[in-house]
Amino acid sequence: MKKYYITTPIYYVNDKPHIGHAYTTILADTLSRFRNIIGEESFFLTGLDEHGLKVQQAAEKNQVTPEVHCDQMAPAFIELWEKLNINYSDFIRTTEKRHTKIVQNILNQVHKNGDIYQDEYEGWYSISEERFITEKEVESGLFGEVKKIKEKNYFFKMSKYQSELIKKIESGELSIQPKSRKNEVLGFLKQDLSDLCISRPKSRLEWGIEIPFDKDYVTYVWFDALINYISAPKYSEDNNTFDLHWPADVHLIGKDILITHSVYWPTMLMSLNLPLPKAIFAHGWWLTDEKKMSKSLGNIINPLMLIDEFGVDSVRYYLMSEMVLGLDATFSMDSFVKKYNSDLANDLGNLVSRVCTLISNNFDDKMPNYKSKDSDLSKSFNAIDMKQHLDHFQMDSLLHKIMNFVRSVNGYMEKNQPWKLVKEDKEAAGHILYHAAESLRVAAIMLSPVMPEKSKEILIALGATASKLDWGALKPGDKISKGDPIFPRIVQ
Ligand code: MSP
Repeated sequence: MKKYYITTPIYYVNDKPHIGHAYTTILADTLSRFRNIIGEESFFLTGLDEHGLKVQQAAEKNQVTPEVHCDQMAPAFIELWEKLNINYSDFIRTTEKRHTKIVQNILNQVHKNGDIYQDEYEGWYSISEERFITEKEVESGLFGEVKKIKEKNYFFKMSKYQSELIKKIESGELSIQPKSRKNEVLGFLKQDLSDLCISRPKSRLEWGIEIPFDKDYVTYVWFDALINYISAPKYSEDNNTFDLHWPADVHLIGKDILITHSVYWPTMLMSLNLPLPKAIFAHGWWLTDEKKMSKSLGNIINPLMLIDEFGVDSVRYYLMSEMVLGLDATFSMDSFVKKYNSDLANDLGNLVSRVCTLISNNFDDKMPNYKSKDSDLSKSFNAIDMKQHLDHFQMDSLLHKIMNFVRSVNGYMEKNQPWKLVKEDKEAAGHILYHAAESLRVAAIMLSPVMPEKSKEILIALGATASKLDWGALKPGDKISKGDPIFPRIVQ
């Protein structure tokens, strides 16, 4: 059966990983785990973009060869992913033979079908963007250092596919989300597309994949990098594997790399006669207000440093719930502490302790019996349509739904007061506690894609053995094992 195929951008190894890289990777990991929970098999690809000028320059700065530089940088990413509990299915580096070979196959194929030609071109070249830019872009002043360059290069006939691409985006065959990003791409496609310069003369840049039909050139880093999405699942090498994965269900990206993914990449795929990815989802930026951060907690300069202090799951939860679909978000220590204390310590953690303590004190540590399987809580649980949120990449609103459900369990406890009821009608109190505990079990499972470890702790406390989302899986009579508070309050 075809897998639900999720990708992150592959990250440049010119610098250490930071919050931006971490966010997209956690988002992909969370989405992948969520798809598993709704019964699908997922395939989650991430990796590193190791060619190009930026990496060559970073290596020069460190006085090592680009190969050595890449090998020195890769562990920083892999270690951070381990620390963040990232469960990727494959990790690709663009210097690996399995990738370079396929890039060269593709260049040959596209050359043969007439979509690559050589031409002399004179234009403005942006060093930071590593591409030729238009007069208009030069005037904008947004492209840093620019140089006038005249040289012979190879070009990909991107313009040939412009109208077909517009149709595919308009019809939703290629879904670009959120809608504002789709409009941005369609706006970009209103002007005539030029062809894409896909080579760099070795005299200017050596660090790249050699053009197979001209050894004086290397491949433009984006033409090389985008291919990772199909080289990892073995395009042109193993049809069965490829068909199990491609087309990707979603490319998760940041908004700054929207055009490369929504214009360059689909036209490359069209030239190869391959289906387009089903969706591209572009998230906003994390802004860190260092002043604000240092004011509230002098030592924190990087949100990733929170992991050691407050645990990986709470950082994952914060990042996933705080960034609203498609918008920018500002990281601040205050908002982290507020969210942690209100959602995790208070609403969720306290509830687990309270329910477990009541069961422990009144039912001899055993899950009480229920009168009927249904309750208001089972109804609100059944109303959460996870798939619908996931299909629209609305992770933040799904989390808010789940947390609202947790809050409704708190409301249910307040309304029914099992601590009082137990004195008059033990059976009725048992019923209430059973439903509260069962709600916490399903909530923990629904939260496990974001907080894999903490969810396990909650399930252990409840003595839950079933990990299915079917209501009523807790067994009356089973032992609970109330432990320490799961989310101790942060005292500032
Ligand atoms: N190598 C290219 C991607 C090639 S994919 C075929 C690249 N790499 S990158 O390392 O510069 O950036 C990777 C991702 O990190 C981008 O999606 C970018 O949006 C994201 N972020 C970088 N800083 C960010 C924030 N501060 N906040 C959120 N994401 C941002 O581009």
